[in-house]
Amino acid sequence: MNRSPRRRVLAATLSAASAVLVASGAVLLSAGNANAATTLGASAAATGRYFGTAVAAYKLSDSVYSTILNREFDMVTPENEMKWDATEPSQNSFSYTSGDQIVSQAQSHNQRVRGHALAWHSQQPGWAQSLSGTALRSAMTNHITNVATHYKGKIYSWDVVNEAFADGTSGARRSSNLQNTGNDWIEVAFRTARAADPAAKLCYNDYNTDGINAKSTAVYNMVSDFKTRGVPIDCVGFQGHFNSASPVTSDIQQNLARFAALGVDVQITELDIAGSGTAQATSYSSVVKACLAVARCNGITVWGIRDSDSWRASDTPLLFDNSGNKKASYTAALDALNSGGTTNPTTSVPTTSPTTVLPSTSNPTTSPPATAGCSATVSLNQWSGGFVATIKVTAGSAKINGWTVGVTLPSGAAVTNSWNTTASGSSGAVSFANVSYNGSVNAAASTEFGFQGTGVGPSATPTCTAR
Ligand code: XIL
Repeated sequence: MNRSPRRRVLAATLSAASAVLVASGAVLLSAGNANAATTLGASAAATGRYFGTAVAAYKLSDSVYSTILNREFDMVTPENEMKWDATEPSQNSFSYTSGDQIVSQAQSHNQRVRGHALAWHSQQPGWAQSLSGTALRSAMTNHITNVATHYKGKIYSWDVVNEAFADGTSGARRSSNLQNTGNDWIEVAFRTARAADPAAKLCYNDYNTDGINAKSTAVYNMVSDFKTRGVPIDCVGFQGHFNSASPVTSDIQQNLARFAALGVDVQITELDIAGSGTAQATSYSSVVKACLAVARCNGITVWGIRDSDSWRASDTPLLFDNSGNKKASYTAALDALNSGGTTNPTTSVPTTSPTTVLPSTSNPTTSPPATAGCSATVSLNQWSGGFVATIKVTAGSAKINGWTVGVTLPSGAAVTNSWNTTASGSSGAVSFANVSYNGSVNAAASTEFGFQGTGVGPSATPTCTAR
């Protein structure tokens, strides 16, 4: 078995009467915002974020489960179905039935998919556990190529590498058979995934990295190094498995922000919080608010639906009780999402790439005068009935101080929400202007914004006008 967080025995502190008081107080709070969305997914989408859950394929036929899933969530992570032991039970023989089931149910409900996980020390098939050296290294790259190719175009983001750092204060890599193949195994995994599915966002994912500590700093240093050297990494996932041994701390926002400042998206990927009643609800609220305060924290996923679905069910760590009723923690999370978290100016998206080295010229005085201007490219994640478009705005040879991107949507398509931009119009010719924190883009540097829509996404190259 892989590691599991230390568990604690929870005292049942809330009487039924006080639970009712908590719940009704929370309802009153919700009623204060007449425009508040009433599901987790819709509330998160109002600020350009997603709200997801881990899904187990064998539970999809449970109607209580699937009703909540399809009502509340707009992102799913297969809980076990895309792990190495599930997808390649014997070497070079692939099995996708359960993973495919989750993907197709997600597509038919306009939910996106976070693939989990391509390379991990845990839940490896027996044959891989007994490999080492170059045989294991090539088995890993073969696995990544096959799985990412099979799901190409269907995955919003992949957890390319999961849990590669050691717990404690060493800041070292976790010792594992993969680590023993050489320190470069992580970057090789990312490059292999990028080659197989260039449109998927590629994430590093870990636990006990939610706050600022030696382990998260070690991950931070790796991501910083990857960005400097051009190793393809787009996002960092923070699992968010909390209990009394690893509680919700007040520096989560600060930690998310420091990673975001490296130029990656950040997400809470496996949230569950041991506890009950008001204490648990308050913790949920503070994690959601931490994400909402960071512009590049673009999604939160809880690790299961009902407490009984949890991998640590005795901790009652989720948002719905065993019968599928909303807990006080659900209401707290929903209220936090509806509290209108947008972007925190102190943690805004960096607009410059790490270091842009311009080619030197032999005679600088004869270089052409810098011209303003920008260009934009679109990358699409399209599913049946909807899409997410990510637009990259790149400044020309001079710094720009603002931009407007024009996109033509195919007939029948409409923008439903957008992030890191102000949209004008929702169908046909739509324009997107910078917001306060991403208008200024240095020469040759880039910034990104995105929007979600129904119908078919734009395929033509967008126009870009600079100021
Ligand atoms: C867990 C699943 O929830 C369990 O069903 C399984 O038995 C073990 O793995 N970190 C991760 C997840 O990245 O994949 C783990 O999921 C929980 C810890």
